Amino acid sequence: MLIDQFGRTHNYLRISLTDNCNLRCFYCMPEEKYDFTPPSRLMQVEEIDRLAHIFVQQGVNKIRITGGEPFVRKDAAQIIFNLGKLPVQLTCTTNGIRVDDLLPEILQANFHSINISLDTLQPDKFLKITRRDLFHRVSKNIDLLLANNITAKINVVLMKGINDDEICDFIEFTKAYPVEVRFIEFMPFCGNKWSSNQVMTQKEILDTIGEKYAFTSKQIGIHDTAKGYTITGHKGSFAIISTMSEPFCGGCNRMRLTADGKLKNCLFSKQETDLLTPLRQGKEILSIIQPAIWSKEKKQGGQLNGTFENIDAEVIQNRSMITIGG
Ligand code: GTP
Ligand code: 5AD
Ligand code: SF4
Repeated sequence: MLIDQFGRTHNYLRISLTDNCNLRCFYCMPEEKYDFTPPSRLMQVEEIDRLAHIFVQQGVNKIRITGGEPFVRKDAAQIIFNLGKLPVQLTCTTNGIRVDDLLPEILQANFHSINISLDTLQPDKFLKITRRDLFHRVSKNIDLLLANNITAKINVVLMKGINDDEICDFIEFTKAYPVEVRFIEFMPFCGNKWSSNQVMTQKEILDTIGEKYAFTSKQIGIHDTAKGYTITGHKGSFAIISTMSEPFCGGCNRMRLTADGKLKNCLFSKQETDLLTPLRQGKEILSIIQPAIWSKEKKQGGQLNGTFENIDAEVIQNRSMITIGG
């Protein structure tokens, strides 16, 4: 088992397959020119497989593939096929654009659920946010997943002045669509020009929804990132991921493997532990993983002591989101 100094067991591994992406969301990629990691420096198919096996032997029972955009990787199908054979809940976070291309592989891998990032229901705003005119492709692919009985969740990063006016539109969307829409508080990462003024907090989101709808909270598990709510008569539901105003680090069971093979014990950790180099050198890996997890800090969501309003995004020492994968 992989346990940290505060007794938290880590059984959920997020594996980033690439820092490349077929969108250019302004809040995710650094504004300055960004060079994607060359393929030789990424974990190769069999290296991902070997590392995943080591984590599974240590009790990991949930693996999420992330990016950048995981499905732009040319060998994504082989990676999904391999991970699909492991005794884990296999999940994925994608922008949805290549879901149709990879549908046979997605069906074969028996994904437990697929989370789709979609910050707006308006095609012109989609173009502004992502700098690509692909709204309808994503929208069709959500329909495709549902038609194939795959559980889909929609991740909406809320930013004031950008898409906070669409909260109730997304709630309306859940009337007919059996999906969970998850409103995410905007988080600071290197180069994403975050400002606390843009964060739509959990309270503000609930107040906005409460003006028009009556909702009931769902039971949540200790490891959940999202607090869920239902509305009578709606086929879908909604949830809030409140990293900034109400961090949920106490129940954290998550570890991250970046596409270049570094272990991050927290989304906001400066500390990274290289697993790929020692793996390539034939070294024993478990004794490197264990202390990296043990030393995880108690609380970095909301950046340590709560008041996220005081965070200076310019001094954050972390990767950009596109190289972490969420
Ligand atoms: P489920 O397994 O479906 O609940 O998904 P998830 O929330 O674990 O993963 P997803 O990739 O859909 O992430 C949704 C949002 O939650 C993103 O903004 C992530 O950055 C954020 N998130 C995921 N894991 C963590 C975490 O460990 N800490 C914090 N603070 N945020 C996280
Ligand atoms: N704050 C919150 N969530 C973010 N994501 C990307 N950047 C941010 C950010 N700055 C979301 C993506 C994706 C998930 C992995 O993380 O929309 O759904
Ligand atoms: Fe790509 Fe997702 Fe980042 Fe947008 S948020 S650039 S879709 S990885």
